Amino acid sequence: MERKSGFIRELKSLVNGDRNMLFDFVCRDLMKVSDSYNWVGIYVLNGKKLVLDTFAGERTEHDVIALGDGLCSMAIVTNAIVNEPDVKENSKYLACFPSTRSELVVPIRHSGKPIGELDLDSDTPSAFTKEDEEFLTQVADIISVRVSEVFRD
Ligand code: SME
Repeated sequence: MERKSGFIRELKSLVNGDRNMLFDFVCRDLMKVSDSYNWVGIYVLNGKKLVLDTFAGERTEHDVIALGDGLCSMAIVTNAIVNEPDVKENSKYLACFPSTRSELVVPIRHSGKPIGELDLDSDTPSAFTKEDEEFLTQVADIISVRVSEVFRD
């Protein structure tokens, strides 16, 4: 909880600065907020594709995802959070890392429309709680104006 409120405070102080630094901060420092956050990425919608803008953790082959594929697309198409406690049980899941057990995808909205998302992978099963969902929704809302600068419809 303390780490989450500290993160939000720092995020607010950086939100109007350099965009690359801001997105790097979001990914790298979210990894420090919880031991269960083992990969963090910001995907941005570009036409019918989701493009990985910034990430922390291992490199993934899924740096471009066609809209329709994976849990990442599901969050955009439904404009809702996808919180999958067991990725191996979800046939829609696109595997990135063998160690991943659960995943949380939080839409980033601008004027109510999804323009991108925060994607978190965890090596822990059922890692993501309602509190994580609320915290990451707050993060998504704070950065949404900056994400809208790279979004292409
Ligand atoms: N697992 C995602 C793909 C992205 S990786 O997690 C980095 C999905 O099912 O869409």
